[in-house]
Amino acid sequence: MQTIVTESVAVAATWINRGEVVAFPTETVYGLGADSTNDKAIENIFSAKGRPPDNPLIIHVHSPEQIWEVSEKIPHTAETFIHHFFPGPLTLILKKNPAVSPLVTAGLLTVGVRCPIHPVARAFLKQCNHPVAAPSANISGRPSSTDWKAVYDDLQGKIRCVLKGPQSTIGLESTIVDCSETPPRLLRAGAISLETLRKHVPETRALTDNEKQQRPKSPGLKYPHYSPSARIKLCGSGYPDYKGEKNSAWIGLSSPPEGISKISVCKDPEEYAYKLFSFFRECDRENIEVILCEMPPAEGIGLAIRDRLKRAAEE
Ligand code: TXA
Ligand code: MG
Repeated sequence: MQTIVTESVAVAATWINRGEVVAFPTETVYGLGADSTNDKAIENIFSAKGRPPDNPLIIHVHSPEQIWEVSEKIPHTAETFIHHFFPGPLTLILKKNPAVSPLVTAGLLTVGVRCPIHPVARAFLKQCNHPVAAPSANISGRPSSTDWKAVYDDLQGKIRCVLKGPQSTIGLESTIVDCSETPPRLLRAGAISLETLRKHVPETRALTDNEKQQRPKSPGLKYPHYSPSARIKLCGSGYPDYKGEKNSAWIGLSSPPEGISKISVCKDPEEYAYKLFSFFRECDRENIEVILCEMPPAEGIGLAIRDRLKRAAEE
């Protein structure tokens, strides 16, 4: 299949409306979209990514009003989050409409919904006839794509179209909050921190260790993730001391030890998040063997970075 790269929102939306798979930019990471009402198109997302079929997709809407097409049950807590954070880098888990295909939700009775704030994403979603189901636009297990070239490297020849936009400004996937149960629970850390969510809905809480083990609430959490080919070693704040190794790279907030060949020192945690996945991909292109990653402080978006780093380091 020939993959078309376009800057035209209208062209990309036309492909979606014809049942094709199209990658598009959002403020978090690029998404790999298809018409959420078209089962064949949804199957093609799973096969293009090599994604296990029991890992559900998030549905993207162009406005909070469009949520009604996928869920009729919006609890008060969700209304509060929608009011404060939609559009933005937040996904809410809600009870799903019977009309939403079980292929999208991997058979769950809940559905993830997000309304991106990225202007290209919103314009694109407005021109699509139905809400758009989309996971991150990477081969399963690889770092998420934060620019169109990363999407193209992973998925060229497997999808119909890439809607080209700027690099994703946040660089990490959305915060996920499960509002289908009381109290709401944080399933995935992101740019909107638990602390910020609690300012509006104070009872929101993280999953307990028990809950994490009993039922994988976010099925994706059990799969390996975010991994470049290079080995990831975590450094600093409670992790072992680091030393330079042959063909190694460093990303963090402070200066690296001696003897590192490729270095990215970020000025703050926001820049760290923005650069992380593209740095992983650059390291792979340059055949780096070990990436030393400094753990940022455990607050704000630092918590989301730490989560991604820990999972990337899992063997
Ligand atoms: O920022 C983002 O969220 C990006 C952009 C493209 O919107 N999307 C994204 O999708 O990161 P994905 O598929 O890579 O990650 C979605 C996560 C998966 O871990 C999946 O298991 C979880 O959301 N998820 C989806 N629907 C769910 C549901 N009904 N209940 C629990 N977890 C769900
Ligand atoms: Mg993903």
